[in-house]
Amino acid sequence: MGEGVPVLDLRQLDRGRDRLVEAAGAAYRKYGFCGFLNHGIPDSVIEEAYDVFRRFFSLPVASKLRYRSASGGQRGYTPFGIEQAKDQVIPDLKEFWHVGREIPGDNPWPGILEPNLWPGEIPEFRDKALELYERLDDLGNRILQIIASSLGLDPEWFRPHVRLGNSILRAIHYPPIADRETPAVRAAQHEDINLITLLIGSDEEGLQILSREGNWVPVTSIPGTIVVNIGDMMKRLTNHVLPSTPHRVVNPPGARSDRPRYSIPFFMHPNPDFLIRTLPGCISEDNPDRYPDSVTANDFLEQRLREIKLL
Ligand code: OGA
Ligand code: NI
Repeated sequence: MGEGVPVLDLRQLDRGRDRLVEAAGAAYRKYGFCGFLNHGIPDSVIEEAYDVFRRFFSLPVASKLRYRSASGGQRGYTPFGIEQAKDQVIPDLKEFWHVGREIPGDNPWPGILEPNLWPGEIPEFRDKALELYERLDDLGNRILQIIASSLGLDPEWFRPHVRLGNSILRAIHYPPIADRETPAVRAAQHEDINLITLLIGSDEEGLQILSREGNWVPVTSIPGTIVVNIGDMMKRLTNHVLPSTPHRVVNPPGARSDRPRYSIPFFMHPNPDFLIRTLPGCISEDNPDRYPDSVTANDFLEQRLREIKLL
C-alpha cells in the first residue's frame, strides 16, 4: 500500500469493532480510500475468477465482439478504445467485461437489471464470475456497515438500499502498451460513479490516487488486500464528508510496458430507485447542504454513463 492509505484488519469486526470503525472513518474522510486484510474471500475464488477472465480476453477479437451489449456496456464485453474518462478527450487503453446482479424471482427493473451475458467458449466462466460477484456483494455490505457506523447511522442503514443495486463486477484487461509514445493512459484520472468500489488489486503496479496536497500517490497492493474507495454517489449522499478521491492507472515505464495488467473492481450501486438525498447528519453550519435537489441512483448513473461514452 502506498504511503498514507491505511490497511485495516477486518477480523477486528469481532473484537475491537469500535476501533475499526474509527480508523476506517478517519481513512475515508482523509483519503477516500482504505485497504482491508482478512476480508474472508478465499484466494482460490479470486484466482479462479482471474483465470476465466484471462482466458476470455485471450480469445480472438471477433469472438469477443459477439458479447457486446447495447445497454451502455453494462453487461458483457466492451472493446478496447471505447471508454473515456469524464472530461478526457482520448479513450483509455483497456477492454473489460461486466457482470451484473442475477435476480432470483421477480425482477422489478427488467430494463435496468438486465440479464447477464456468458461466453460459450469458457464453460466455467459463469459460475466462477458469479461466485466472486456474490462474495464481493457480501463484503461490500460489511464495509457499508462500517461506513454507516462511522457516520452515526444504524449499521444496517444501507442494506435494504443496495439489495437490488445495479452493482457491477468489472474484469479489466490492460494489454501491453503497443505504442510507448501514446498520449493515452490505461485509465485516465477519474472518480468512481457508485457508492463504494471494492478493488481486487492487480499484481502489476500503476494505480495512483491524487492526494489532498495534489500529489499522485501509488497504491501498490499488499497480497491479500482489498482496497475499498468512496464513489461519487457516496460523496453526494454524505455532502462531501466522505470524499471520492480521483485516481488513475498509469502506463508502466520501459520494458514493463510489455506486460499486460488485469484488475477486478466491484462497483457497488444502490437500488435503481434509491433517492440520493443528503444525509441530515452530514449537514452543518460549516457544511451546508450542497445538493438541495435529490436524484435517483439510476438517473445519476445514466447521466455519468453518457459522459464516459458508454451510453
Ligand atoms: C476503475 C479503476 C483501477 C484498476 O475501473 O474505476 O479505477 O486498478 N480501476 O484497474
Ligand atoms: Ni476507478
